[in-house]
Parts: sequence; C-alpha cells; structure tokens
Amino acid sequence: MVLYETELKEHGACKNMAGIYGRSNTSEETCDNIPCIKEMNFSHKHQNPYITESSQFNSVEDGPRILDPAVNKRTSTHTRNFIKTNPSYLRTLGQTHAGWIFGAVAELIDNSRDAGASRLDISIQSMFSKKAKGKVPVLCVSDDGRGMTYEEMMRMVSFGHDKPNEYCQDQIGRFGIGLKSGAMKLGKDALVLTQTSTSRSVSFLSQSFNDKKDNIEIPVVTYCKEGQYMEVDLDVHSKAAAEHNLDAIKEFSRFNEYFIGEKVGLFGEDGTGTQVYIWNLDRWGEDYALEWNPENTDENPAGHGNGGILIRSKRVRSRPRQTSKDVPLDYSLKAYLEVMFLNPQMKITVQGSLVITRHLEKTLDKTSVMSGEIKGRTIWLTLGMSVEEYDRVNCGMFLFWHGRLIESYKRVGGQQHSPDVGRGMIGVADITDIIDNEDGSTWVLNSKQGFQDCEMYVKLE
Ligand SMILES: Nc1ncnc2c1ncn2[C@@H]1O[C@H](COP(=O)(O)OP(=O)(O)OP(=O)(O)O)[C@@H](O)[C@H]1O
Ligand SMILES: [Mg+2]
Repeated sequence: MVLYETELKEHGACKNMAGIYGRSNTSEETCDNIPCIKEMNFSHKHQNPYITESSQFNSVEDGPRILDPAVNKRTSTHTRNFIKTNPSYLRTLGQTHAGWIFGAVAELIDNSRDAGASRLDISIQSMFSKKAKGKVPVLCVSDDGRGMTYEEMMRMVSFGHDKPNEYCQDQIGRFGIGLKSGAMKLGKDALVLTQTSTSRSVSFLSQSFNDKKDNIEIPVVTYCKEGQYMEVDLDVHSKAAAEHNLDAIKEFSRFNEYFIGEKVGLFGEDGTGTQVYIWNLDRWGEDYALEWNPENTDENPAGHGNGGILIRSKRVRSRPRQTSKDVPLDYSLKAYLEVMFLNPQMKITVQGSLVITRHLEKTLDKTSVMSGEIKGRTIWLTLGMSVEEYDRVNCGMFLFWHGRLIESYKRVGGQQHSPDVGRGMIGVADITDIIDNEDGSTWVLNSKQGFQDCEMYVKLE
C-alpha cells in the first residue's frame, strides 16, 4: 500500500526526496519555509518565456505610434489583446471524450507509445489522503518512455501545437491537446512526474487548484542532474518560483514530497519515463464512471484476470445498424487494448494483469487482401471471418490511423441492411494515406474516435 501525506520518513523515501530537492535541503526545510507569494521575486519571468503568469495573457504594450490625438491622450501606445483561458476550459476540454471515457485513457496510452515506451502500467489504486480523511481512488498510468525535458513538459502543458516536429508514420500525437483532454475527462486533477536521463519534472494540471481563478495556472518544477544529485534547474525557473510551484502542488494535489519522492524513485537512477496520477475521478451518479478490480499484487494475487478496468454502465457504443449488445471492447479496457494498435509494441498491464495484444488481421480466418484507390491514393483492406464475432452477431470494418484504432465495427455494404449479412466478417485497414494531407493536416477527429465529414472518407465509405 502506498501512503502519502504521512510522516513517512523511511530511508528510501528520504533518499528519493534528496533527489527531488537537491543536496542542500531536507524536504522539511523546503516545504515548511515556502515564502509568501507576495514576497517572492518573480524576476525569472523575464528570463524565461515559459513561466506563465496571468499578466502574460493580459494586454501588452507595444506597437507603432498612434496618430489620432484623442487616442494618444488615452494611451501613448497601441494595445494588443492576448487570449485569456478561464479554468472552466479544462472541463470543456474533457468533454472531447464525453462520449466514451476509454478515448480519454487512449490519449495517455498514445503518448506513452509516442515516447517510445516498451512498458505501460495502468491501474486504479486506493491511496490514503489526509485531506480526504481516507482512501481515494487514483488512476495511475506509468511508462518507461523517454520522459520529458523541461521544454517538452512546457509543451505538454500548452494547448495545441502546430504539427509534430518531424513526420513519422508511427506518431499518433497530432493536435497538442490529448493529455489535457484525456486527463480532464478522467478526473479533475492530474499530477505528471517525468524523468529523462538528465532531468526530472513535476507538473500539476488541476481543476481544483484553478477553481475561481481567472486564468489557468499549471505549476511545473524541474530538477536537473548535478553529479549524483538532482538540483532545482535554475536555468528554467528561479528557486522561489520552483518553491512556489511545489507548494501549490503539495497543497492542492494531496501528494506530498514523500509521495512524489517515492514515485520518482520508481524510475530508478538511470531510468526514464513518465507517470500520470489522476484523481477526483469522473462520476457516474453516486459512483465512479469506471469500475475496477483490485490490483494483482503479491498480497492480492486474486486481482489477476478479473477484467481489470471497466466502464460501469457497460453500455455498448451506438453504431448505425448494430443490434448486438455484446461488444466487450466498448466497456472493457483490456478488450480494447488488445486491438488498439495494429502493431503492438508495448507490454501493457491493467490492474497488474498483462494485456494479450493481438494483430487483429492474424486472428481472422479465410482472409483476403484487396486494395483500392481513392484520388490516386491506395488503401489496403484485409477481410476475414471471426467465429467469436459471428457468435456475438458483430461485423464491420476496423479503421486505423497511424496504426491506432479509430473506428471499430463500421458496417459497410450489405452489413448495413441486416445483422445477418456479413455476420462475423471483419475488415482491417489503415487509412492514414487517405486521411492525412500533404500539408500535415488530417481528417481524423481530435478525439481520435472517428473521422471528420470529408470527401476522402465519404469516398471510402
Ligand atoms: N508519456 C509521455 N512521455 C513523453 N512525452 C509525453 C508524454 N505525454 C505527453 N508527452 C509530451 O507532451 C506533448 C503533449 O501531449 P498531448 O497528448 O497533449 O498532445 P500530442 O500528443 O502532441 O497531440 P494529441 O492531441 O494528438 O495527443 C506531447 O507532444 C509529448 O511531447
Ligand atoms: Mg497525445
């Protein structure tokens, strides 16, 4: 069991926090002596373009001389307006996945894959919270990918980006909102811990922390490796700013320095990776939208194989002309993850139990492969029979984009007219080439759970 917000002072935890805080501070010193915000010197703002203060988003004074004397009287400079982001936007972003909560989990999984992870552990654990005066469920997603540098962390906490730095067939991240939209659907608060070969960072994306603020604030603290130790990275923020951010994280995240220290310790000294912790989980009536079996641990081997994480309602997604109510991938995370990638590369566990990923087309019988051309672009389709899906009265196409499942059981042709036409017949196609444009834009929806209404998709249908 992991305890946090306790007086845990065992050797391991303290050692980890030495990593977090650097050699000169004990954790108690750092945490208890956080200066009052008003007294802080925020001179770092001028050195560092990434430090977000609300003033950055207000108007800035700049620009050409104003010729109208009346205007000139009011202000001697031209005013430019920058957008302000009300914290309610975090909730709005979460609605990207309002239709299907596994779409939100998938965003985190995509990111781990993009970071080259070979292992990904997803679990919901009960963690003790002093503030909540009891245990609270926390969704934990942990990978051994390359982690994030400070600059990448700042990219992670920004909303949207141009396009991926370099075009790569396997790269799924495209819009620059996935982590934010996914995390803010799954829960109200998210803590991200990451480690690269030279740095560690912590960031806190939170609706609770931003409640009643007039702009979104996302505290980030970064440490860099100095010999054996991790020191606050003074190239990216001042010590005062780092302490202020850490204070905010401790106060609002329920996770104290011992918890954070213990968790970053899991990366190992030379390891890299990212851990995301999400709590205040999405609700379904009085309960949580997700339901889960206890984790498979040494103390609890019975947790193994019990279905992992499920959508509580067990509702099947609605698809035109589908009559079957037996579609496990709609409500069982493990069933979804089995086929989420055309080419599975990561070992994924859910509640401690390994997901047996499968190449979908290799599980089909009597397969035939065919190709077609749409506006000069070729797509390949593998068609085959699945006994399992026949029994469930399912059929349809599985459409992938950059190797990631976007649409499942899409009925085509005769399948649209009767549940028995083409029953059990499954098609598999990666339609990246017709959905991505040469200029880097794409017709996939930003939820990555469907395609925009566009010419190419209609021709494909
Ligand atoms: N687990 C992770 N490991 C390493 N880097 C990550 C991880 N999660 C997020 N990032 C970084 O944060 C950035 C932003 O992630 P986010 O999911 O919000 O957008 P994206 O993946 O770029 O695009 P999309 O909206 O299509 O998912 C990523 O581009 C990546 O650089
Ligand atoms: Mg992403």
